[in-house]
Amino acid sequence: MSARASNGLPLVQFHSAPETVDLSWGHPDPASLPLTEWAEASVGGLRRYGGAALAYGYANGPGPLVEWLSERLGRTDGGAPDAGRIFVTAGASHALELVAALLCRRGDTVLVDAPTYHLAFRVLADHGVTLVPTASDPDGILPEATGELVERLRREGRRVPLLYLVPTFGNPTGRSLARARRTELVAMAERTGLVLVEDDTYRELAYDAPAPPSLYSQAEDGAVIRLGSFSKTVAPGLRLGWLTAAPTLVTALARRGYVDSGGGVNHATALSMAEFARLGSYERHLERMRTRYRGQRDALVAAVRQHLPEVEFTVPAGGWFLWLRLPGPLRASALLPYAEANGVSYLPGTHFFVTATGDAYLRLSFSLFAPDLLAEGVRRLATATAVAVAVAVAEST
Ligand SMILES: Cc1ncc(COP(=O)(O)O)c(C=O)c1O
Repeated sequence: MSARASNGLPLVQFHSAPETVDLSWGHPDPASLPLTEWAEASVGGLRRYGGAALAYGYANGPGPLVEWLSERLGRTDGGAPDAGRIFVTAGASHALELVAALLCRRGDTVLVDAPTYHLAFRVLADHGVTLVPTASDPDGILPEATGELVERLRREGRRVPLLYLVPTFGNPTGRSLARARRTELVAMAERTGLVLVEDDTYRELAYDAPAPPSLYSQAEDGAVIRLGSFSKTVAPGLRLGWLTAAPTLVTALARRGYVDSGGGVNHATALSMAEFARLGSYERHLERMRTRYRGQRDALVAAVRQHLPEVEFTVPAGGWFLWLRLPGPLRASALLPYAEANGVSYLPGTHFFVTATGDAYLRLSFSLFAPDLLAEGVRRLATATAVAVAVAVAEST
């Protein structure tokens, strides 16, 4: 794949120094994307739906995709949301943008898990809100302490409309919130009226056992909005995702001016996706990707155990990321220049917190590289770590 058009302008978001094993990007390998099956589904969708595939789309998303989503979520999660609870979006990022536009006002305080998906901070901050970390421990959010935080902030006169988190195969930790905490968190949201925005982007990328039921599937209407995406399961360039929420919220989204003016989001792509699913391509591709990512995860885990035996981590049961805790006083931001000089890169943990913390951690993504390159990246990281430690020792003596 060429990363540039013939006029020299870039084609894709991904860029990296050549020869670097860049483990900072949470992107799929372009060579793994389902080109042939997507082409069949696009042509098939045009044949099946005719001119309706290229007309302005239905506000909530086209019926065939909404119907399939409902059935699929019923099989892969704790329950099937009905059509009135589903809204098709241009990806999970767009879904978050829409939720923030609807629920947030400038000056609000929004809670975010600590750590959590760093680019969600950008989406939320665009709405003029202040981000405050939830109370958490290494196993994730502490529901009771977070509930107390919400109440304290409200007593101080702050409006706290929502809490954003990735409770299943999270970015960056790869971990999933335990079932007991899920139940307590939902109860806290129902008690306080705080809306939980559950980013469920990685649910389908489960490698060892099915993902735990979503917060959404356990909550009363209104307490949880769940965001979903085809970016990780099929392809990010499609810009296609969805949200599930209370019918009132879905109706409010469908009534927004831009939908009235432009119709449902990404209508033709949404119909191609419905056809992709109807042809069985979704299931087949997902199974291939699970096998591929499971192999990549195992290769990365084995290499870290072999070459970096002193770092601590939990083996992720799904998703794309390994979250490493560095030994001793080593800091991820200080290590990065040594790593990059050795041809490997990653994201320091500080990216994933809204307060100045997390530098003992770093995130490695295993989505982009084959097992041998992942192992090579870790060998380079081990060399860089040894150099950084030696320099620190020399400087302190
Ligand atoms: C937790 C999380 N949410 C959302 C996204 C972006 O999803 P989309 O491509 O559907 O906007 C990502 C991508 O890295 C992610 O990790």
